[in-house]
Amino acid sequence: MKVLFLLALVVLVVVNGLPVSVNQRKTYHGYKIYRLSLDTQQQLDYLVSMNDALQRNEMTEEVEFLTDTSLLSPDFKTPISVMVSPGQEAAFLKAMKAEAIRNEVALADLEKYLEEERYISPEDQRTVDNSGMTWTAYHRYETIERYVQTLAANYPDLVTLTTLGKSYEGRNLYLLKIGKPRADGAVKPAVWMDSQIHAREWIAAATVTYMVNKMVTGYATDATSRRMLDQIDWYVLPVINVDGYEYTHTNQRLWRKTRRVNPFSQYIGADPNRNYDHKWMVRGADQNPSSEIYAGAYPLSEFENVLVTDAVLQHKSQIKTLLTFHSAAEMWLLPWGYDSSVPDDFEDLRQMGLRATAALKALYGVSYRVGSSTQLLGAAAGATDDWGKSKGMIKYSATVELRDQGYGFTLPPSQIIASGEETFAAINVVAQIVYDEYGPTLPSN
Ligand code: ARG
Ligand code: ZN
Repeated sequence: MKVLFLLALVVLVVVNGLPVSVNQRKTYHGYKIYRLSLDTQQQLDYLVSMNDALQRNEMTEEVEFLTDTSLLSPDFKTPISVMVSPGQEAAFLKAMKAEAIRNEVALADLEKYLEEERYISPEDQRTVDNSGMTWTAYHRYETIERYVQTLAANYPDLVTLTTLGKSYEGRNLYLLKIGKPRADGAVKPAVWMDSQIHAREWIAAATVTYMVNKMVTGYATDATSRRMLDQIDWYVLPVINVDGYEYTHTNQRLWRKTRRVNPFSQYIGADPNRNYDHKWMVRGADQNPSSEIYAGAYPLSEFENVLVTDAVLQHKSQIKTLLTFHSAAEMWLLPWGYDSSVPDDFEDLRQMGLRATAALKALYGVSYRVGSSTQLLGAAAGATDDWGKSKGMIKYSATVELRDQGYGFTLPPSQIIASGEETFAAINVVAQIVYDEYGPTLPSN
C-alpha cells in the first residue's frame, strides 16, 4: 500500500514537472509542405495578402507560411514554403492555379516525416561522452544541457560554463566560453555565437553544438581547431528560446515564438527576434499577440532576451563579431534590419560575409546570399543583429540563415554533419578576419 502511494506520488511529480504532457502533441497526418516559386510582383502581393488573411482569420494551423513572413522578398528568388492541411488543400491549389503560381510538393506527409525525425536509433545513441549528444539526430534540451556540462567537465582548460539565468518556464540558459587562455593572461578578441532563438529552426543549435564540439575535441589534433581556440575566445549560447524549443519537441513542431503567457491575450509568446530594444516595432513587427512576429508588450519583455543582452554587454569590449544562427534561407544577413539603410562600415561586414560564405560553399556547393537583411528579406526591427551592431557596439554583426535545401525547418537530421562542417569553414574565416583586424590581444580595461 505504502509503495503504491509512493509510486503514485512520483508519477504526479513527474507529470507536473513537465510543462505540458506529451500526449497533447499536435499531429499532422496528411499535411503537405508546398514550395512555391514566384515570377511576378502581383503573385508576391497575392501571397502577402493571403498570409495576412490567414493570420486575421486564425487559420495558420491549417495553412501556414513556413518561410518567415518577412522572408517574402521582392526578388522572386526565394522559394516559399507553405504547410497545407488536407482540408484546405483543394482551395489552396485552386488559388495557386488562379494566380499561376508554380508549386510542387516538398513533403507529402508531414506527420510521417516527424515520426522519422523523432526516432533516435541505437547507433545515434552511441556517443563519445555519455551525455547522449550526437549529430545524427535532433535532441531534447536536457541532452544538450548534459552535453555542455560534460564538455566543460572534460575540457576544463578550454571550456568555462556559466548559467545565465532561467527562462520563463524555469529552464537554465547556458553560456560557454571556449578558448585557450594566453600564458601571459592578456585578453584575446572574441566572437559571440547564439542559436535557437526561433524554436522550430532545429538545425541552428545542432550546427552550433557541432562546431563547438569540433573546436574543443579537435584542439589536440587539428591545426585549424587549435588556431581558432588559441587566437580567439568564443562565447556560445546554444539555445536561447529553451521553452519554445521544448514545445516543438513535445507539442507543436512548427512553433516559432517564446512560451510566455501574455497578460491580456489568449495567445502565447512573442517573437524574441523582434523583442530587442533597438528600433523596437518600427517595421516588420506586430503588436498583435496572435502574430508570428509579435514584438512583445514592450522591448525586452521576454526573459530570454534580457539574459542575452546582459551577457553580451558584460563582454562587450572583447566581442568583435556576433553571429546569430537561424534557418532556413541560406543567407548571411547584415544590418540594418529595421530599414533599408546600411551602416557606414557595411562594406567591411559584406566582405566578411562574402569570404565566409565562399569557404562554406567550397565544401558542398551550398550557395549563400550576402547582404542587407532588409534588402534581401524585408524589414524586421528588434532583431539580434541590429541590437548587436547598435547597443552591443559590435562591428561585425550578422544573422546566419542556415540550410534549407528545399526542406525548410524540417531539414532531415542526416544533414546536420554537413551543415556543421560547412558552417565551421565559414566561422574559421570569421576567426581569421577578426584576428587580422584586432590582433592577438586587446588593451585590457
Ligand atoms: N528570419 C529572421 C527573422 O525573421 C531574419 C532576421 C534578420 N534580421 C533582421 N534584422 N531583419 O527573424
Ligand atoms: Zn529564425
